[in-house]
Amino acid sequence: MHPSILSLLLSALVASSSVTASSCVVRRPVIQAHPLQPGKPHAISPRRDPAKTCFVPSQGNGQDDSSSILSAFHTCNHGGTVVLDLNYTISNPLDLTFLDSVDVAISGTVNFAGDVYGWTEKTFKYAYQDSSAMWRFGGRDVNIYGGGKGLINGNGQPWYDEFQKNSTLRRPILLVLDGLQGGSVTGLHMINSPNWFNLIANSSDIIVSSIDIKVWSTNSNPAKNTDGWDTYRSDSIVIQDSTINNGDDCVSFKPNSTNIVIQGLSCNGSHGISVGSLGQYIDEYDIVEHIYVYNISMTNASDGARIKVWPGNYTPFQPSLTGGGGSGHVKNVTYDGLYNYNNDWAIELTQCYGQKNQTVCDLYPSNMTIEDVTFKNMWGTTSKKYDPKVATLVCSSPDKCINIRTENITVKPPSGKTAQYVCVNMDNDLLNVNCVSA
Ligand SMILES: *[C@@H]1O[C@H](CO)[C@@H](O)[C@H](O)[C@H]1NC(C)=O
Ligand SMILES: *[C@@H]1O[C@H](CO)[C@@H](O)[C@H](O)[C@H]1NC(C)=O
Ligand SMILES: *[C@@H]1O[C@H](CO)[C@@H](O)[C@H](O)[C@H]1NC(C)=O
Ligand SMILES: *[C@@H]1O[C@H](CO)[C@@H](O)[C@H](O)[C@H]1NC(C)=O
Ligand SMILES: *[C@@H]1O[C@H](CO)[C@@H](O)[C@H](O)[C@H]1NC(C)=O
Ligand SMILES: *[C@@H]1O[C@H](CO)[C@@H](O)[C@H](O)[C@H]1NC(C)=O
Ligand SMILES: *[C@@H]1O[C@H](CO)[C@@H](O)[C@H](O)[C@H]1NC(C)=O
Ligand SMILES: *[C@@H]1O[C@H](CO)[C@@H](O)[C@H](O)[C@H]1NC(C)=O
Ligand SMILES: *[C@@H]1O[C@H](CO)[C@@H](O)[C@H](O)[C@H]1NC(C)=O
Ligand SMILES: *[C@@H]1O[C@H](CO)[C@@H](O)[C@H](O)[C@H]1NC(C)=O
Ligand SMILES: *[C@@H]1O[C@H](CO)[C@@H](O)[C@H](O)[C@H]1NC(C)=O
Repeated sequence: MHPSILSLLLSALVASSSVTASSCVVRRPVIQAHPLQPGKPHAISPRRDPAKTCFVPSQGNGQDDSSSILSAFHTCNHGGTVVLDLNYTISNPLDLTFLDSVDVAISGTVNFAGDVYGWTEKTFKYAYQDSSAMWRFGGRDVNIYGGGKGLINGNGQPWYDEFQKNSTLRRPILLVLDGLQGGSVTGLHMINSPNWFNLIANSSDIIVSSIDIKVWSTNSNPAKNTDGWDTYRSDSIVIQDSTINNGDDCVSFKPNSTNIVIQGLSCNGSHGISVGSLGQYIDEYDIVEHIYVYNISMTNASDGARIKVWPGNYTPFQPSLTGGGGSGHVKNVTYDGLYNYNNDWAIELTQCYGQKNQTVCDLYPSNMTIEDVTFKNMWGTTSKKYDPKVATLVCSSPDKCINIRTENITVKPPSGKTAQYVCVNMDNDLLNVNCVSA
């Protein structure tokens, strides 16, 4: 008998113990965007049928549990709950994009096997930035929750080691929502992703809350590109109340991210909350619109608030990251309430992403416009790196950056000198800060 069923039976036998439900099945929390709401309210997800609950067995000893997990989703789809309360190993890809009205209760651990080249053969591949997935969730109305207990372990170390030798290694993303309309991801720990932790793609009406992300390497091979969340071709997304300890973007809004609220995050060691990179693909038009980033604590990061777009010409940045010349627009983005501690830049706006030589960017201005952006209510102290400069806002041409404002920014450099802001091709009257030109 499955241990959870046993514990359910045992708790039923102890009649007086109804207060302390001893089952380790975590319950779906009340899921609400708070305090800010997205532009349009998300639909309420109906309660699931308790009789339709699928406990997934685990083989143990690192043996592959993917087929049991898949069959549980087939059985409990359409109104049930899949329970992952044991220690599982996944060594084969899981395509869970057929879901409809199902909950996923993870109080156990989901481990991804560390067979690097075994995985690269069979992951789901995406054209966008050579991304890939070991499992992916899509469909409609899916709630994935861990009650603060569940853990998704990317077992990234063999990937970090191999990436050091093979710079074009295609490293998978830990959790991919691909084509999910309505749903949530809450109460989970996520550790050591091979690449980005989360990609929310082709999705809408999603709330992410109470996630704890951590990444570390046990040797000198760093864990790279470990973004917390990337949104792509997605609308009406909320990411809130989470802690992120990583080494790349805390959150990044990739092409066609609209109506997004980010609030209550504590990010440490990251590359900031980033719009972009955008304009990477020459024949595409990228849109990032209606973004509100609120109440963020950002420490030990390269940037606090960041907007990064590629220049107007082709730019070889890294072996698997090249581009530039793409067009599009960024419009209506607000950063409101951002505490800085030991970040190199409190604000970085660049249209020269991937290119070290600013002269080249001036010769080939970006094809992206950045419009109606406000940075406000930011305080704290930067790192020593650019002291006394605390922010850099460099547009490739005056007509590409329109109505960019700062309000109530009191970020200081550690020396205590007067803070300087690099402002180039910007409307300095709207910035209302101590601008310098380089
Ligand atoms: C869970 O399974 C993984 C993979 O086999 C193993 O490394 C780990 O020790 C197991 N953890 C527990 C708590 O049994
Ligand atoms: C690097 O990894 C990719 C798979 O992601 C593979 O196709 C390629 O052969 C590897 N290169 C080397 C030198 O191992
Ligand atoms: C998103 O949808 C597009 C169009 O259907 C598809 O090509 C792509 O593979 C999907 N997923 C991602 C992550 O791009
Ligand atoms: C983004 O939206 C624009 C406008 O609808 C479209 O032209 C473009 O192809 C979309 N980009 C992606 C990556 O889907
Ligand atoms: C800001 O976020 C933190 C969690 O990081 C939360 O405890 C606090 O209540 C939030 N403050 C406001 C004003 O929303
Ligand atoms: C923040 O990241 C630094 C490394 O950049 C690490 O030393 C420190 O322990 C982290 N802080 C917390 C609270 O996790
Ligand atoms: C700007 O975006 C916010 C959400 O961040 C939205 O509430 C507001 O309506 C948008 N403004 C315009 C003019 O579209
Ligand atoms: C920032 O990093 C330093 C070490 O680099 C660490 O001691 C400190 O705890 C970090 N700050 C926070 C708030 O995590
Ligand atoms: C992109 O910018 C480059 C350099 O400024 C220019 O030559 C090219 O025509 C632009 N392309 C588009 C589609 O606007
Ligand atoms: C930067 O680019 C310009 C224009 O192509 C070139 O003249 C200059 O030598 C470059 N500077 C460096 C440091 O490469
Ligand atoms: C200015 O920002 C600080 C945080 O640094 C905040 O406490 C204060 O309320 C803001 N003032 C206004 C007028 O919004």
